[in-house]
Amino acid sequence: MVREGQEGRVIMQADTVKKSSSFASFYKLSTDDRLKQLKEFAGLSEDEVKTIKSGTLPFGSAERMIENVVGTFPLPLGIAVNFLVNDRDYLVPMAIEEPSVVAAASNAAKMARATGGFKASSTDPIMIGQVQLVKCPSPAAAEKAILSSKKEILALANQQDPTIVSMGGGARDLRVRILPSLTGTMVIAELLVDCRDAMGANLVNTMAEAVAPLLAKLSKGRVNLRIISNLADKRLASATVRIPKDALGGAEVVDGIVDAYAFAAADPYRCATHNKGVMNGIAAVCLATGNDTRAIEAGAHAYAARSGRYSPITSWHKNENGDLNGFIEFPAALGIVGGVTAVHPLAKICLKILRVKTARELGEVMAAVGLAQNLGALRALAAEGIQKGHMTLHARNIAIMAGAQGEMIDLVSARMAEERKVRLDRARELVEELSKSANHRSSK
Ligand code: MEV
Repeated sequence: MVREGQEGRVIMQADTVKKSSSFASFYKLSTDDRLKQLKEFAGLSEDEVKTIKSGTLPFGSAERMIENVVGTFPLPLGIAVNFLVNDRDYLVPMAIEEPSVVAAASNAAKMARATGGFKASSTDPIMIGQVQLVKCPSPAAAEKAILSSKKEILALANQQDPTIVSMGGGARDLRVRILPSLTGTMVIAELLVDCRDAMGANLVNTMAEAVAPLLAKLSKGRVNLRIISNLADKRLASATVRIPKDALGGAEVVDGIVDAYAFAAADPYRCATHNKGVMNGIAAVCLATGNDTRAIEAGAHAYAARSGRYSPITSWHKNENGDLNGFIEFPAALGIVGGVTAVHPLAKICLKILRVKTARELGEVMAAVGLAQNLGALRALAAEGIQKGHMTLHARNIAIMAGAQGEMIDLVSARMAEERKVRLDRARELVEELSKSANHRSSK
């Protein structure tokens, strides 16, 4: 079911809402119990649960992915809970090494549920393929010649992949830009390609290479690069949210978040960190679903600088009731078919957990996650500071490094957090102290 959103965008709507992603204390469950809940929610098989638990990528698959393989490199896979996007519940897999990210996203998503969650939308999945033409004797004449052969060029591009065309995708349009540059004026011909549910890099690059000789002939220039653009500003995902001021902790917190946003909007040094926080969420879902994190990062930051000034990809404003309104928009060059999504067993399972039916839907969920992540970070920063949450997990890691095991991990980390001395030397002292008193007790 679809409905028309702002600017003619189509908002995907839930067919039916079957299961809730709202969990009061998911973090308190054992790993096995979490997996049990996940299995039920996503209809996973026993084998899929085993694959998640083992976290392995078969060596043969790894060898087919890159060169000079010597092993695989696992990361923690967490599940962000509470996400309600366009009235549909999502459990969100996130692959990330950083503490607090999954918890912050889950908490922010919980706050958003009170007002109906996130409303997300997306544009058609259009990627841009660039063909660089240099040394054209007349750039203006080249532009005219190329545009007058548009039909022929698009047909040639579409001959490269009849399947995508039969699915309603393919090269849709062609545009030309005359670009002054360090090495002289160049002509850039750009194919606008609807990639449907694929990320599209292979498709677009193949098309760009196929049409290049014809473009060279028409422009009387020389072809140089033929490659996709990662500034996918025709393939956007966006989301909005409203958080009641009371859910946030009061009017002061709302003002704090709006001031934090204003800081990022005014200062590139802060803005880079603001956007990094947003991308903590987006990149983690990207990685879990086998998508290209570098493409998404490059696109997001380039999009953030599109006005000529590097700006936040989210915005936060106080509404007339004193509640907080948030918005995010980012280029969502994502796929749910082909590429790594097709060969990595965990990526396939993560897509199954997400239950997304299209790449656009995946982008919409990621938009909600990015907005939630940013909200979580700004709220913590504007209220208690970020270290409290970070330190809890960090302290546990330090305790383990100092040799703590079992329940001693919690005891040592709690003491260090209390004393605000989360350091290896202090952890070692505490491990020694606690071991001695345990030995003392057991010898009595
Ligand atoms: C840390 O990974 C992300 C934050 O620095 C984001 C921010 O400052 O907004 C907490």
